[in-house]
Amino acid sequence: MSPPADVEAAARAAEAFTARFGAAPEGVWAAPGRVNVIGEHTDYNGGHVLPVALPHTVRAAAARRDDGRLVLTSAQHPGADADVALTDLVPGTPGGWAGYPAGVVDQVRAQVPGGLGLLVDGDVPAGSGLSSSAALECAVALAVRDLLGLDWGPDDLVDVARRAENDFVGAPTGILDQSASVLCTAGHALHLDTRDRTWEQVPLDLEGAGLALLVVDSGTTHDHAESGYGERRRQCEEAARRLGVGLLCDVPDAAGLAALDDGTDEGAVLLRRARHVVTEDARVAEVVALLRAGTDPRAIGPVLTAGHASLRDDFEVSVPELDAVVEVALAAGAHGARMVGGGFGGSAVALVDADAVDRVTAAVAERAGAPRSHVVVPSAGARRLS
Ligand code: GLA
Repeated sequence: MSPPADVEAAARAAEAFTARFGAAPEGVWAAPGRVNVIGEHTDYNGGHVLPVALPHTVRAAAARRDDGRLVLTSAQHPGADADVALTDLVPGTPGGWAGYPAGVVDQVRAQVPGGLGLLVDGDVPAGSGLSSSAALECAVALAVRDLLGLDWGPDDLVDVARRAENDFVGAPTGILDQSASVLCTAGHALHLDTRDRTWEQVPLDLEGAGLALLVVDSGTTHDHAESGYGERRRQCEEAARRLGVGLLCDVPDAAGLAALDDGTDEGAVLLRRARHVVTEDARVAEVVALLRAGTDPRAIGPVLTAGHASLRDDFEVSVPELDAVVEVALAAGAHGARMVGGGFGGSAVALVDADAVDRVTAAVAERAGAPRSHVVVPSAGARRLS
């Protein structure tokens, strides 16, 4: 049986769809945002990631049409509907929020020539580095799969969602966000090997250990987030090329990176970028080993904090606002803290004792200017609601 929150969210989306389109939807689907416990910027380097799904989701209510149009409406973007002939879909058009669902539908337009009406509603904070765009893509991919009776497994859903983002919207991301949204399960972190796409669910009962995962929104998004991400990808590719490996995570440890240091400034930068990736991949293994060993999960705290230092100093994708959140959270008693996602703004995550949540929340609000924090419980992946 669906949890009450799902039932309520489905009813709300169905009602809004009916009000907008004059007929009930054929179904409602949901997909969550994510927060990555550890494993940042490893997903396009053949490394590992360890995300959990948020309880926050994007919902898509959908029904087929017969006029050949894609009509998109969002509760979060009133007045910014898109109404476009399927034959007019091209990468970049429609743009804005509508580009993500359009990028999914574009891939199946031969199978749904009559078109589609979609209403989107959600509570994944946008612009906070919590993958609201992946949640949107995945909810729509699931809707399309079910409505058209397509034979898509989880990897197909991830690929369709990711192609929407890479090829239609034009953001060169890896597969972390979409994989988390599709594959995560409640009470677990997803340990995914992005090279061969194998994964395992790692039990993560923080509550049982008297702990909480606190997500803190730094409230900042920097303009150069997209260009900075693309530049980091190119630097990783260049470092791999110079080392003669296909992907950076082919290098077993940081000692194997010495050849990058050729005495030039560029060589020094590439060494730092590569060192982040290789040590971060090792940190994922370390965290998984600690969690699997059944040790007190507080032990993963210092590994998370080391991950932040590496993103700040070697990969250089943190910003002062995120550094402040991490420092203040640690000073207020967090066992570990780090920025999450691509960087250049967005959110940080802190591992805190359950009875210290209020104290850490107040500290980051007052001393780091980050008033929006919430405890996240590892939640379910994409699913049909009704
Ligand atoms: C963004 C991208 C992901 C991943 C992270 C960094 O969230 O969408 O693919 O690269 O940054 O780990």
